Amino acid sequence: MTDAVLVETRTDDAAAWWRQAAVYQIYPRSFADANGDGIGDIPGILSRVDYLADLGIDAVWLSPFYPSALADGGYDVADYRDVDPRLGTLADFDAMVAALHERGIRVVVDIVPNHTSDLHAWFQEALAAGRGSAARDRYIFREGTGPDGSEPPTDWVSVFGGSAWDRVEDGQWYFHNFATEQPDLNWAHPEVREDFLTTLRFWSDRGVDGFRIDVAHMLTKDLTEPLPSRAELDALPQDGNHPLIDRDDVHEVYAEWRRVFDSYDPPRTAVAEAWVSTPERRAKYASAEGLGQAFNFDLLVADFDAPQFRTIITDNLAQAEATGSSTTWVLSNHDVTRHATRYGLPPLDGRAVKQGTEWVAAGGPAEGIDVAQGLRRARAATLLLLGLPGSTYLYQGEELGLQEVAEITPEQRQDPAFFRGGEFDGLGRDGCRVPLPWTSSGPSFGFGANGAHLPQPSWFAEFAADAEAADPSSTLSLYREALRLRRELQAEERLDWIETGRADVLRFSRPNGWQVVTNFGAEPFELGADADRVVLGAAVDSAVPGESTVWIAPTA
Ligand code: GLC
Ligand code: CA
Repeated sequence: MTDAVLVETRTDDAAAWWRQAAVYQIYPRSFADANGDGIGDIPGILSRVDYLADLGIDAVWLSPFYPSALADGGYDVADYRDVDPRLGTLADFDAMVAALHERGIRVVVDIVPNHTSDLHAWFQEALAAGRGSAARDRYIFREGTGPDGSEPPTDWVSVFGGSAWDRVEDGQWYFHNFATEQPDLNWAHPEVREDFLTTLRFWSDRGVDGFRIDVAHMLTKDLTEPLPSRAELDALPQDGNHPLIDRDDVHEVYAEWRRVFDSYDPPRTAVAEAWVSTPERRAKYASAEGLGQAFNFDLLVADFDAPQFRTIITDNLAQAEATGSSTTWVLSNHDVTRHATRYGLPPLDGRAVKQGTEWVAAGGPAEGIDVAQGLRRARAATLLLLGLPGSTYLYQGEELGLQEVAEITPEQRQDPAFFRGGEFDGLGRDGCRVPLPWTSSGPSFGFGANGAHLPQPSWFAEFAADAEAADPSSTLSLYREALRLRRELQAEERLDWIETGRADVLRFSRPNGWQVVTNFGAEPFELGADADRVVLGAAVDSAVPGESTVWIAPTA
């Protein structure tokens, strides 16, 4: 086991490490490629642990690295308790965990319980065993409709577009919320439940500190016949009794998981990816009897706009207080357009990104994007976030100020959502998954010794980590400084708004006296004597320039 170092240095409240952690999301196949096959791998991550330590994050979250046909970037898992041979071995994984723990960085892994890969042993067994078999009962198989059963059981549509049903050789149909290669599991099946407990113990025993739960709100289903039509399904409220989404009975699953998490010292943590209809519904996932924390994606669907930010911040802090959890700030992840690009686009109008609780569609730079403004606003928004109570999830490459990559031809694209034309309309999600530029020259900008599995545009040179590390005004330098100062700023999980007299300027203080001021507008915001205590971001003529954030240290 690899967690010896960390366990010894933990204090009593080490169990609460996640509450205000800065968690850096690694998308393994696009992070660093150690063996030059074009796909990022675990030894690649190991080779960059010093970079992660210098960045100053508290934890990494690894998107799936399990054996997979990569039909959905690894979210199609063929074996939950192994490492994809292209990405390394379990021994490599252990070495990576040990190296991260030595630097005080915790490790969170992704659990994908809603569906397996169609290559998973269970699904292969279900195919071979035939209709009516016990093996098929681990998934959702149904007879088709129409005279010869050649029509799907219902007209339901998958999240990625196209029918949510596919037909197997003997004529039965199986249900998949996502791609064809991602059959949904039957969570009413005791073996399915038991097996995930085994998986949680497997990684916990290897020293993993926490889990990110993929589409946590979709596992349980009520598929009592007759099944509703798509229109009927869409009209049903998502109040805990919807047949497919955010059912109350899913929390029975997480109560069992919680018992596993709490059997470890310190308890393993979990964060739910739950796109649900209201903050109250989200709170159930964040409860201490359940997963403990849930992603708040509100800022993914907000404009760069002071009143929107203020409402979202206030609401989420109130909600965290009510549940006893801490909130989670997110501006970018592997499913959405990078925020440096979003903020350079016209305000969200449903064209580039979907609104509400819908998935946010990744688009890539559209015509009319203002790259400089996007980056300016991204830096301002990130500094605001890092000053807030709660934990912040950062997505690899955002610390370089990376833009979404649009220059990917249809032939080069990999995202099943692009090919199925579903809710991630437009270009799909490949544009935020392009392998990172580590060096401003050389093969695949230092990602690996050869090429990269998605094409890197020439402008990646400007954003390379080596160039930015040497430049004190770079986005990387800003992130490093912010993450360093954040350790001083973090205090009691509270903030107090300070009225600014301007609708486009937000200002708050933390209980220990640190202040954060974000100017969302164009006109400079005057700070007066407080300008002398600006330690992050820059005051110009004692004012906060437009579209920027400053941190003000407490008075001595
Ligand atoms: C989650 C993941 C996304 C994946 C989907 C299906 O939303 O973040 O990348 O495609 O689940 O597993
Ligand atoms: Ca590789």
